[in-house]
Amino acid sequence: MKLKNKVAFVTGGTSGIGLETAKLFQAEGAKVVLVGSNEERLAAAGKELNGDALLVRADIRNVADIERAVEATRAKYGHIDVVFANAGATTVAPLEAVTEAYVAENLALNFTGTFFTIQKTAPIIAQGGSIIVTTSFLNTIGYPGLSILAATKAAARSLVRTLGAELAPRGIRVNAVSPGAIATPFYSKIGLPDNVLSQVASGITDKVALKRFGEPAELAKTVLFLASDDSSYTTGTELVVDGGLTQF
Ligand SMILES: NC(=O)c1ccc[n+]([C@@H]2O[C@H](COP(=O)([O-])OP(=O)(O)OC[C@H]3O[C@@H](n4cnc5c(N)ncnc54)[C@H](OP(=O)(O)O)[C@@H]3O)[C@@H](O)[C@H]2O)c1
Repeated sequence: MKLKNKVAFVTGGTSGIGLETAKLFQAEGAKVVLVGSNEERLAAAGKELNGDALLVRADIRNVADIERAVEATRAKYGHIDVVFANAGATTVAPLEAVTEAYVAENLALNFTGTFFTIQKTAPIIAQGGSIIVTTSFLNTIGYPGLSILAATKAAARSLVRTLGAELAPRGIRVNAVSPGAIATPFYSKIGLPDNVLSQVASGITDKVALKRFGEPAELAKTVLFLASDDSSYTTGTELVVDGGLTQF
């Protein structure tokens, strides 16, 4: 039990990487707080956690929602040990299709939401706590149509260093996990028709050294490492889980 009685606050916990990680955290003894923007998906995810998680509806683009989620956690558990700032989504937009509203929307969810998740949880994170931010392979390689998402993820990578430095005096570690192509519902939401999506998927698979998409469970194990004392001397860094996509 690597997280016995630890309180873990997971955003984007209703699906994909976040849900799989929440399940593993629970199996390792954590009390899980699951944050998602949609009541039905939250309820469904709650069932996958055996009805034993605190479910909080919060739109990460809205700072007041984040504050509410943190307050609900404080009211129930008094503190937080682990924050997994993982919520994220986008749609594909080539250079000429990007609008001011698109930039604002992507920043709000993928960067500002991550920042305020850390800022609002920080006051109740216990000594020795751990924050993990989900970045992306896109913060190191260029992929057409995802300029703004990639920039938000590079900014999130930067946050991990600065906020890691700010929180180190309290014994709180801040790290990133950088997924490569992982088989989650993320891709069904990016606005591409199925035939184009399957071409994109096979194009990416060709570039992955291990020649396959990763599974959310493979991410979850890395997040568990960063969340637990197994990584007690690791802060400010980014662990890459991408089958070699960005390395070779
Ligand atoms: N899958 C990949 O290949 C891949 C690669 C690199 C990075 N990532 C990153 O990994 C993270 C998790 O993605 P995933 O692949 O697991 O995708 P996913 O299955 O689509 O999960 C995304 C999660 O984000 C939540 N979310 C979206 N908009 C939200 C909002 N406004 N407020 C609160 N929560 C919101 C969703 O919950 P609700 O919709 O229920 O609110 C869902 O739980 C993201 O940050 C993504 O950028 C994924």
